[in-house]
Amino acid sequence: MAINLRPTIAEVRLSAVRKNLQKLKKTAAPARVLFVVKANAYGHGAAALARLAEREGLAWGFGVSSVEEGLALRAGGIISPVLVLGSLYPFESFVEAINADLMVTIASLDAARQVIEAARRLGKKAVCHIKLETGMGRIGARKPSVLKIYDELSASGAVAVAGMYTHFSSADTDPRYTAQQLGFFSETAAALRERGAKNLTLHAANSAAAVTVPESRLDMVRCGIAAYGLADGFEPALALKTRVVFIKNVREGAFISYNKSFCADRPLKIATLPVGYADGYLRRFSNRADVLIGGLRCRVLGNVTMDMTMVDVTAVKDAAVGSEAVLLGRQGREEVTAQELAALADTITYEVVTLISGRVPRVYLE
Ligand SMILES: Cc1ncc(COP(=O)(O)O)c(C=O)c1O
Repeated sequence: MAINLRPTIAEVRLSAVRKNLQKLKKTAAPARVLFVVKANAYGHGAAALARLAEREGLAWGFGVSSVEEGLALRAGGIISPVLVLGSLYPFESFVEAINADLMVTIASLDAARQVIEAARRLGKKAVCHIKLETGMGRIGARKPSVLKIYDELSASGAVAVAGMYTHFSSADTDPRYTAQQLGFFSETAAALRERGAKNLTLHAANSAAAVTVPESRLDMVRCGIAAYGLADGFEPALALKTRVVFIKNVREGAFISYNKSFCADRPLKIATLPVGYADGYLRRFSNRADVLIGGLRCRVLGNVTMDMTMVDVTAVKDAAVGSEAVLLGRQGREEVTAQELAALADTITYEVVTLISGRVPRVYLE
């Protein structure tokens, strides 16, 4: 077990993740839930959350971005279906994926031929989902290629086509575009049925679609952000916390941090926190974000540095070395939300939590 003395931690409330997954499961039923745990479960810790979901039957399976992430789940004891959502390269990756019973995404004829070859080489059937491009413009084959891919894979006898899916680009912002994407998807699904495809798991919805576009739920929904509580109506699971390590009083005119990025306009009491951009606390928060100490909002002063950040605790009478500081999450009646931090950094909540670095221990609370 790694030694952990620094007080900077990411606390993950399992009860919130449980509640969010229960809600998604109920909302999506009879469609299944694929819990998207890529990027270390958006920074929350993939193995721990996948174990919770598997143990309590909260998800049918898991979505990851790479073979490596899938192998990490298997190493963590996960036996449920795992779908690798990324396009694989180099093609040797197929061998590793098939060996570990990871389902792979096939988005081109080239990849289809490679997965057939890998499966034959191993003498083990591969399981895949075909990815259809409907307007995301990332990975995916168009309808005519999907039909060819399906034909080659099914004729090979080496690969089972278990599903087909697509990904919405704007389910949270553009219902008409989402409906159009869904329309293209349904057309291709119908064409596959005409070719004799049976029992394919059809899926398209991310969290936003799963919640707000019932007709997009199909056989399965793929949810990440709502499970972590960063969508409306769900409960945030992650808090970023630390403790004050240094306190000082400064005079008017004192400079704080690199490049004199803050100048005190009056005498101030300033706390230094052992957290910085190397922990994923973005430099963009310099002079902009609030941190909760003693139940009050305390402004970040000057540039966030690699490992330390200064905050104004003038109003917190009993602030001292050891006082708890909440950078993201609740303290008393106050809350710093991921939405608030995302707005300050001109980004999205996904990025705020995903960037919390590997240096920050994840601590799980029941
Ligand atoms: C292919 C795919 N499906 C599902 C998801 C989950 O999306 P969300 O976190 O918005 O639910 C993602 C995440 O970006 C994805 O890339």
